[in-house]
Amino acid sequence: AIERTLSIIKPDATRRNLTGKINAKFEDAGLRIVAQKRIHLSPAQAGQFYVVHKDRPFYGELVEFMASEPVVVQVLEGENAIAKNREVMGATNPAQADAGTIRKDFALSVGENSVHGSDAPETAKEEIAFFFSGLELVG
Ligand code: CMP
Repeated sequence: AIERTLSIIKPDATRRNLTGKINAKFEDAGLRIVAQKRIHLSPAQAGQFYVVHKDRPFYGELVEFMASEPVVVQVLEGENAIAKNREVMGATNPAQADAGTIRKDFALSVGENSVHGSDAPETAKEEIAFFFSGLELVG
């Protein structure tokens, strides 16, 4: 089925001018960027987005990192977009990511791992609504 998923190009990647190279990997995989904006999250906003991880030992570090510099938030659309995006991203830890994936090619560490992608249809819906209004989604 055609799905939409929420993607974030993280500060380690925007800082290194990798937005275009990462978007090329999405587009080459058949994912369409139907919404996109560059924003600088406040610590409160980053904390709210990742609230599901609030009891994890890395939460503070994750929130500080995500609010450190601008990110690019985007909605990707395509056949099986949620799973396809996770394939294109590669494993969370770049040391375990397959060749050719975004994290293998660009990520610095498990924390500074260049991209975020929704993990399931329900979270995709919530995460898209966190950043975008319906009017901003141009299919
Ligand atoms: P993401 O897909 O954005 O969802 C939660 C993030 O937490 C994850 O990617 C990682 O960047 C981060 N994360 C997971 N494990 C660790 C860890 N051990 N140390 C620091 N950050 C982590």
